[in-house]
Amino acid sequence: MKNLIIYTSKYGASQRYAEMISHALGDPATELKQCKKQMLETADRIILVGGIYAGKIAGMKYVKKMERHIKMKKIYVFAVGASAYCDDYLEEIKMNNMKNCNLSISFSYGQGTYDEEKMNFKDRALCRSLRKALQGKEVSEMDASMRALVNTQGKAHDWIDKKYVDMFLKKVSESSNA
Ligand SMILES: Cc1cc2nc3c(=O)[nH]c(=O)nc-3n(C[C@H](O)[C@H](O)[C@H](O)COP(=O)(O)O)c2cc1C
Repeated sequence: MKNLIIYTSKYGASQRYAEMISHALGDPATELKQCKKQMLETADRIILVGGIYAGKIAGMKYVKKMERHIKMKKIYVFAVGASAYCDDYLEEIKMNNMKNCNLSISFSYGQGTYDEEKMNFKDRALCRSLRKALQGKEVSEMDASMRALVNTQGKAHDWIDKKYVDMFLKKVSESSNA
């Protein structure tokens, strides 16, 4: 089985997960910008690793654009976000990102990093103003992304954990045996 692991990462967390997956599967991880159509065509399994920004997984646009070239392949998306893992959040992410997409995709999730100091000006301003706007709101009124943002308290976090890669690899191996 030839794996193509592609990643797109603004702040490094998706790249770190892609490298862990690459190490485990023994195939290189390629940045999305460097990915050529021919690489997609020769792969059996395509694995996209991308950060979540305002509910959207980076790189999904590309996957959708390449639909006709990859529709016969096994496709896996490993989304990386600041929210704590839960099945409901993964379901929400799937729903948000599968609009206008006819591909069959297996979704996984890994908790990434959060550091406002390392964000670009626009992202930092957005995250800070959102956190401010959420102050005093009831937790029950918030969705998972909002809760994650509030829980950071503006501090730096690194939640990267091999357990998420192991969960992903288990899914890959189960679907290969099916
Ligand atoms: C502008 C912005 C929006 C974000 N939106 C979400 C979100 O909707 N859900 C989530 O779980 N995390 C969200 N995050 C957190 C990122 O997904 C997290 O920092 C992740 O590790 C980023 O991946 P990267 O380091 O590969 O870029 C957001 C971060 C930024 C800067």
